[in-house]
Parts: sequence; structure tokens; C-alpha cells
Amino acid sequence: AAIYRAGAFGRRPKVPTDGTRLEAAARKVMSRRGFAYVAGSAGSEASADANVTAFARWRVVPRLLVDTTERDTSVELFGRRHESPLLVAPVGVLSMADDEADLAVARGARDQHVTQILSTQASVPMEDVARALGGSGHWYQLYWSSDDDLVESLVSRAEACGSEALVVTLDMAYLGWRPRDLDLGHLPFARGEGIAQYTSDPVFQRLVRERVAAAAATPAARPRPTAGAVSTLVAMSRNHPGDTRRNLTAPEPRAAVETFLDVFSRPSLTWDDLPRLRSLTSLPIVLKGILHPDDARRALDAGVDGIYVSNHGGRQVDRSVAALDALPGVVEAVRGAGSSAPVIFDSGIRCGADIFVALALGATAVGIGRPHVYGLALAGAEGVSEVLRNLRAELDLQLALTGCTSLADLSPERLVRAC
Ligand code: FNR
Repeated sequence: AAIYRAGAFGRRPKVPTDGTRLEAAARKVMSRRGFAYVAGSAGSEASADANVTAFARWRVVPRLLVDTTERDTSVELFGRRHESPLLVAPVGVLSMADDEADLAVARGARDQHVTQILSTQASVPMEDVARALGGSGHWYQLYWSSDDDLVESLVSRAEACGSEALVVTLDMAYLGWRPRDLDLGHLPFARGEGIAQYTSDPVFQRLVRERVAAAAATPAARPRPTAGAVSTLVAMSRNHPGDTRRNLTAPEPRAAVETFLDVFSRPSLTWDDLPRLRSLTSLPIVLKGILHPDDARRALDAGVDGIYVSNHGGRQVDRSVAALDALPGVVEAVRGAGSSAPVIFDSGIRCGADIFVALALGATAVGIGRPHVYGLALAGAEGVSEVLRNLRAELDLQLALTGCTSLADLSPERLVRAC
């Protein structure tokens, strides 16, 4: 009602309320590279398309004559009640959408009481974002580095700055084949973008210094800085003086990019590595990227606290199963194992009805990915806030119009499969 009323009094929204128009509007204001990076996905882009069309196969069946004047959209996750079942999905290299990047997302998320999951590929160090969030709650997303000390350092920093859960993204052993970026010759990390979490890390800085010292010892192999990497790091240091300028001096920016490319992932990772992570932290651990029921069962056996169904917005595996199509099987595996662990879902959520469908199919909460980035590109923190507000309002209205008073009312019986 507040949104309609604001419109009636002449307040123009900052972002379109419809997901397709939101993307189209963001495309107009973003750089070609920035939009390609955010909108693009793997290979034929069939996975990203499937994520969205999977929702279209479900239809909602409303129930009538239920008093819906009081509605509760809150959900409990790891001992904390969240006002809504929305989370801001971890998204790296937000500097491509807005100079204030993760800090603007933090302000927008805080405004809507939505927990932000801070990315390991962030443009701003986690401590600065945590400060901007002012204690309103965040989770940290980890890419499992090939360097043990770096993993330990990132996890302990996440704990120290107040992260409430650790989301470990497992579908990024290698960066996906992304034609839009490949055709533009664009890899943001190779330009030093999205590596602030690393350049602000003491272990990473040690690795960089060791690399510089090794190169100095063998002058023939000394790397020459590329203009791209250095100028981007210098630009980053202007935006976030606490990060690069303090931590890196010439010739370290180039070495930082090379070190990052060496350590950012660990393709040799197996289930046998999970106990080590478990021993590193008492934070709840959530595994992101689960699409197979057996992987969900293995995760629970390994003692993880939450399952995150996602295909990374279709950015990794081409012709992947749509995340929504994988959701019911994973939910069945988790509940069938007698576990009450939350099942988080993302990949394809574009409107309130999508959230309704994902929750009805058993998700406990959902991650909002690209839509919040488009809001960020269009109107900074206010844009992020508006996108989240719209989704929250749409979900709330959908509950009211279908005879639901709380998320507990949502179940597969609320849906029919259209085809
Ligand atoms: C992502 N995603 C992602 N996931 C993650 O665990 N760490 C990360 O750093 C990133 N970075 C990232 C950048 C961009 C530009 C996008 C679009 C996505 C994946 C993200 O968390 C989420 O799984 C997807 O965005 C969900 O798909 P939709 O709904 O955005 O299409």
C-alpha cells in the first residue's frame, strides 16, 4: 500500500518494479563490460534461461475466505529471526555497477533488514562493509583458496567482523566459460577488480611480498606491471584507501593479481576436506551450489548446518539443471534425513511470486542476485533498497491474496505444475 500511495503522491520510483524492465534499465546505465559481466552466464546461456523458465512451469492456487489482515513473513535462520526470507546473494566485483559497490549494497540491505552475504570477490574489504552494516547482520561467502593459511585468515576475519554464517561456494573450482566476457577480452580479476578481500589480508600480503622478492632475486623473470592491473588498483585505492593504498606499494599490484590467480580456488577439494573447515570455525557452515540430493545428504553427514541450492545464476555449468528443478529433490533428501537444516535457494528469482514458489517447494529463504545489482547500478544504495523492498512487498501481497498468513502456510499443495 505504501508503494502505491507514494506513486499517487507523485514520488517516482528509482527502479522499475518488473524484473525484465529492471534489467533493461540497468543495461542502459552500465558500461558494456559491466553489464556483460553481470548479465552473462556460461556457454550457451541455457542454464540461466532455464533458471527463469523453470518458475513459469508452476502456477499458484489461491485459497479464499482466510483472514489475512495480519501476515508474518519472518523466518528463523541460525538462531536469528529475519524480517523476511530474503538474503542478498554474494556477488563479486560490484565496482562494475557502482563506485561505492559493496558499501552501497550494505546500506540498501540494512534499510530493508535483509542480511547481506559478503563475497570473497568483493570490491571492498569485509571489515569496511561490516562497519557500514552497523551490526545489522551479515554472512560471509568463502571461495576455498588453495592456500590453507589464507583460508584460515579469511575465516577468522569473517568471525572477527561479526559474520553470522559461513557460506562456502563449491561450484567455482574454475571460472566458467563466459562468452560475453571472453568476447570482450574481459576478466575483471586480471585487472585487479574484485580482489579487495585479498589485498586487505595479511596472509595474502605476505604471499605477494614473497612473490615480489622471488622475482627480484631472478631479474630476468621480473614481471612488468600491466597498465590495466595497476591503474585499476590505483583507482580502487582512491575509493577505498583502507585497502590497496595502505597494503600494496609498487611493484606489488601486479604481483597481487598474479598471486590471486594462483590461489583463488582449490580444484582438488573433496568431501574429505570438510572436517578441516569445520575445525576452523564455530560459525554455521552453509554449502552453496548443491544441486544433487546425494550431495545434500553427504553435506549433512559432514556436519554442515545449511544447504544452499544454486547453480550460480547459470554462470558455471552450461546446460545445468535449473536450480528450481533441483530444489524439491534436495529438500526431500534433507528432510528425509530428519534434518531441520535451512535450505537456501537462489538462481532465477525475479519477482515476489518466484519467492513464493521457491518457498512452497521447500526453500527456507532465498538469495537475491542480479536484481539487486541492477538496482545498485541504477540508483546506488537507494536502488538496492527499492529492489529489496519491492520483492518483499510483492511476496507479502502474494501471501495475502492466496490466503496465507505466514510462510509456514506455504507448501507444494499451493502449486500446480502447468506443463
Ligand atoms: C555471482 N555469484 C556469486 N556467488 C558467490 O558465491 N560468490 C561470488 O562472488 C559471486 N559473484 C557473482 C557475480 C555476479 C555478477 C553474479 C550475477 C553472480 C552468484 C550469486 O551468488 C547467485 O548464485 C546468482 O546471482 C543467482 O542467480 P540470479 O538469480 O542472479 O540469476
